[in-house]
Amino acid sequence: MSTEKQMSIDAQTKYIAALTDLHRGLDRQGPGDSEFSRNILGNLPTLPLKPRIADLGCGSGVSALLLAQHYQSTVMAVDSSSAFIDELKARAKQLGLEHLIIPIHGDMAKLHWSAGSVDLLWSEGAAYNLGFEQALKTWRQFLANSGVAVISEMSWFTDDVPEPASAYWQNAYPMMGTETENIDRANRSGFSVLSTHRLPSQAWWVNYYGPLRERMQQIEITPSTQLVIRETEEEMSLFEKFSDFYGYTFYVLQAA
Ligand SMILES: C[S@@+](CC[C@H](N)C(=O)[O-])C[C@H]1O[C@@H](n2cnc3c(N)ncnc32)[C@H](O)[C@@H]1O
Repeated sequence: MSTEKQMSIDAQTKYIAALTDLHRGLDRQGPGDSEFSRNILGNLPTLPLKPRIADLGCGSGVSALLLAQHYQSTVMAVDSSSAFIDELKARAKQLGLEHLIIPIHGDMAKLHWSAGSVDLLWSEGAAYNLGFEQALKTWRQFLANSGVAVISEMSWFTDDVPEPASAYWQNAYPMMGTETENIDRANRSGFSVLSTHRLPSQAWWVNYYGPLRERMQQIEITPSTQLVIRETEEEMSLFEKFSDFYGYTFYVLQAA
């Protein structure tokens, strides 16, 4: 997770291009774990036999593909990066899941879907782009009666956060809340919270930071990639020290 605050439009465009380049070809663009996700799916309330599924901020589609495979049902997979949507299309083809994936290159804040048209809404590592509460309020209308949302969000695990971690995230993501605050935000946005699950820190290293580190050694160095690499290294080194205090929590929510 990085920021492009206080940059000119041109610098922002270059920054996002460098960030995308750094994450190209990786299995995932954020921390997550397929076994962990399957475990959550195994404990969801009963959904229709062929649920209508959406994956918002899908990246190159690790979750969209898992969901399509798990339910053998159609997944609308939305991302604002055309590079990641192209990767998703190629992966879906490779896995023989093309018929179940609807790739949508677009803004997850501006979807024109019908009310109640989604039974399962999934979003991993992406809601922060809108802010957790804003994302929930924007997406709530799309859920069918008793529809389910599984959304991961960077969360504080305690009220008592060490200063270096607090200072870093105050700058990178000032709206980051504790799990209790995020549960309140979900309740205020028309959801009941069925359960919460912390992604183990090991999954960050094995599935995300490890591959990202390797990729950092391969990409062409430009001033923009240099900045993104420096920020990513700083984020990793902070997580190494303070992963007991924050991380991704998956919020399992039901439309109330
Ligand atoms: C940290 S990545 C997570 C990707 C994927 N869910 C995963 O776990 O591998 C966040 C994704 O959100 C996408 N994104 C950011 N803002 C967006 C927006 N407004 N609409 C759609 N996608 C967006 C980015 O392009 C990126 O692919």
